[in-house]
Amino acid sequence: QEIYYYPQIGSTNNEAKKLAAGGCPEGTIVVAETQNTGRGRLARGWFSPYGKGIWMSVVLRPPFSPLEASKCTLMAAVAVNRVIRQVAGVYSGIKWPNDILFQGRKLVGILTEMSAEMDAINYVVIGMGINVNIEEREFPGEIAATATSLLAVSGREIDRRMFLAAILKELETAYHLVQTGGFTSILDDWRSQSITLGKNVDVIGPDHRYSGLAIDIDNEGALLVKTAQGVRKVLAGDVSIRP
Ligand code: BTN
Repeated sequence: QEIYYYPQIGSTNNEAKKLAAGGCPEGTIVVAETQNTGRGRLARGWFSPYGKGIWMSVVLRPPFSPLEASKCTLMAAVAVNRVIRQVAGVYSGIKWPNDILFQGRKLVGILTEMSAEMDAINYVVIGMGINVNIEEREFPGEIAATATSLLAVSGREIDRRMFLAAILKELETAYHLVQTGGFTSILDDWRSQSITLGKNVDVIGPDHRYSGLAIDIDNEGALLVKTAQGVRKVLAGDVSIRP
């Protein structure tokens, strides 16, 4: 397995996509101490201070259809959340689709990007930003109210190398399970670790906005929201949990 380590980089996802397009093997990892142009979902940026987090991307080449790519994201969220609970001892939860939160504030963001042709996946890059040893006061004003770190919530610094190794191990196990027909057990774990299911949510898309009760997630990773008009399937967009 190849691990590319950079003290500094634009975005580990961009680098991983470049390597993937160039034919790197599955399981290639790109990790950096800091990112100048870390990217988040929905065209947002990602705060990536030097040496304080795990900013990394993994290249996978799953043997399934592009329609099933969200399996990778769900699997990654479950794997990371398990490690946070077990190793850091922080009782975090998963917010649909793939944020990891503690008391409403974000500890981890996951950005999955895919390249596919026809009905086959060329590669999937799973990018993870894990706020490990960031001090509360270091967060910039815009995200201070919505982001947090393992240090801030547990009061303890975490050895990032050990933590990264634990995450990679958990990811590998989960990925193996997904490939051998065990996705339903990942989905069950996702359900039990979810903080979205059973809550009233607001769904905000580019051209719509509605509220309802988040009742389940389906095999494609879509969130099922029960509204007065019936059950709606949320495939993308922003979902916020009502207080
Ligand atoms: C989000 O919650 O919006 C997703 C954030 C994903 C951030 C990670 S950090 C490593 C990888 N490289 C990037 O540019 N983004 C992801």
